[in-house]
Amino acid sequence: MANDAKALNPPLGMLAELTHRCPLACPYCSNPLKLEPRDTELDTGTWVRVFKEAAALGVLQVHLSGGEPASRRDLEELTAAAHEAGLYTNLITSAVGVNQKRIAALADAGLDHVQISIQDSKPESADRIAGYEGAYRQKIALAEAVSKLRLLLTVNAVIHRHNIARIPEMIQMAVDLGAQRIEIAHVQYYGWAVPNRAALMPGRKEAEAAVKRIEELRRDYHGRIVIDAVTPDYFAKFPKACMGGWGKRSLNVTPMGRVLPCHAAESIPGLEFWNVRDHSLADIWAKSPAFEAFRGTAWMKEPCLSCAHKERDFGGCRCQAFAVLGDARAADPVCHLSPQHARMVELAEAGTGDEPFVYRGR
Ligand code: FES
Repeated sequence: MANDAKALNPPLGMLAELTHRCPLACPYCSNPLKLEPRDTELDTGTWVRVFKEAAALGVLQVHLSGGEPASRRDLEELTAAAHEAGLYTNLITSAVGVNQKRIAALADAGLDHVQISIQDSKPESADRIAGYEGAYRQKIALAEAVSKLRLLLTVNAVIHRHNIARIPEMIQMAVDLGAQRIEIAHVQYYGWAVPNRAALMPGRKEAEAAVKRIEELRRDYHGRIVIDAVTPDYFAKFPKACMGGWGKRSLNVTPMGRVLPCHAAESIPGLEFWNVRDHSLADIWAKSPAFEAFRGTAWMKEPCLSCAHKERDFGGCRCQAFAVLGDARAADPVCHLSPQHARMVELAEAGTGDEPFVYRGR
């Protein structure tokens, strides 16, 4: 579909995946199955240019992410460059290896916000899920240091069969740590989560009870913490507007500089991704084939094409349609109007809870 340049809004957010190196081994890791090696990562100077181009393009917020972004020795320099470019800077971290001195240096460099992932409110379970002994302790220590520095803090709690019963405890934990916001994010089944789907998927009853309980907790915690929750989409009636629409609001830059419309876009075969080493960010946003592939609604087929919801959910998630049906142009099978919706129900109900985790590289 040719893009109408006049109708194209700038992206608001950019995920800068500084590295795929990570000390954790979460069974739901959303990074691609094949990680980009260290010697292919963009150098400091190229990231600095990308931050300037992002700000000029209209990006407001940059998420410094990974892997574990603190694995980059130049993280302070990169944070300062993003800050100087006028971007709001958010560090998305596992907390492992980020000590008090480092977080203070990042705050001095202009860091605005920190997001720490927690795996559970129970230390042993949290460490088992992360595949890293002592991760829980380091997360608590970093959260306390962040609050002491008066940086804004979000706790990201990824929910699945093994911790769904402890959502209230995780919210209380976030409050105790001084977080202003908690994201209750049910696992999205892309990347490494696919081989762990049966082990991670909660039962329908538990998922529906969690949605109801979160509503009550929102009322109980009103004014103390903001609770953002993503509905577990395997059990939803309509799909989510993934990424707020393909190529509509945000972009991801991989460690080696490939620019993606979403973090899992490389799982769809045949898409052509441009690289910041060869093109400006503005050109990539406006013209690159991967962004054009599913932008807007012209690529759709039935039942999406004639659906009243198509401007609201954009047919759902392209990566999920491909992962489940092998067709990225199909309606997201989460949607009850998809002719393949029964396949989704079957997958959602396939687990027993006894399946062991499959950890990356083990
Ligand atoms: Fe790629 Fe949803 S994760 S479109």
